[in-house]
Amino acid sequence: MRPLRSPASFHRDTEDPVAHSLVFPIYQTSSFLMPEGEHYRYGREWNPTVEELARKMDMLEGTPSSTCFSSGMGAITSLLLSHLRPGSRLLIHRDMFSRTYRFAREFLASFGVSVSVAEPGSEEFIRMVRSEKPDMALLESVTNPVLRVMDIPRIAEACREVGARFIVDSTLATPVNQKPFGMGADAVIHSASKFLSGHNDVIAGTLSGREEIVRRADDMRRNLGSTLDPPNRPSW
Ligand SMILES: Cc1ncc(COP(=O)(O)O)c(C=O)c1O
Repeated sequence: MRPLRSPASFHRDTEDPVAHSLVFPIYQTSSFLMPEGEHYRYGREWNPTVEELARKMDMLEGTPSSTCFSSGMGAITSLLLSHLRPGSRLLIHRDMFSRTYRFAREFLASFGVSVSVAEPGSEEFIRMVRSEKPDMALLESVTNPVLRVMDIPRIAEACREVGARFIVDSTLATPVNQKPFGMGADAVIHSASKFLSGHNDVIAGTLSGREEIVRRADDMRRNLGSTLDPPNRPSW
């Protein structure tokens, strides 16, 4: 299998610039001294350990920008709330993770977002992208729990045609098996609580993709408080 990166860049990218520890340290602090700690300020806003995880996600997903959340649902809800307004149109599909489906159908719909639901399968999703012309299309591939693999490049093409932002929840695939950003998605979500951390000892979420999308969701994270606690970061 092709290595993700050379050993030299792996070493450089995991180096702790303060003590040069092999494993990046956990900065277990709520606050940072000012003015030196201005970049981090306060732990709900940002933290060096979480920032290191975001950098690693950019390396893994091949994206320009990443941020991290308290859980996969923290990532999904923060992203959706940061981009959708009453009157916005969202496309999801029936066979996606049940909490994502319920958040869209129950909460976002009551908030005035017009939520369309595609039946399972790529062809139905593409058909609905073209007919509904959503502002955002949220796709899960591989799907949980029936493990359906969706046609990301063709769905990305349809989304581009209608000007929809295209987000892929890639939790079950992991970046080892698929990198949706390189296949045309605007952003990629992970529940890092699953295979990404791999040890069943973490609850976390990530969002990687276009800078503007990640920045808005990250700002919403800072408002909602769906922030990843540094000791809870995946242990890689
Ligand atoms: C595909 C998928 N997306 C999102 C989530 C939510 O992630 P979390 O449990 O980290 O909130 C899960 C599982 O829980 C999932 O399987």
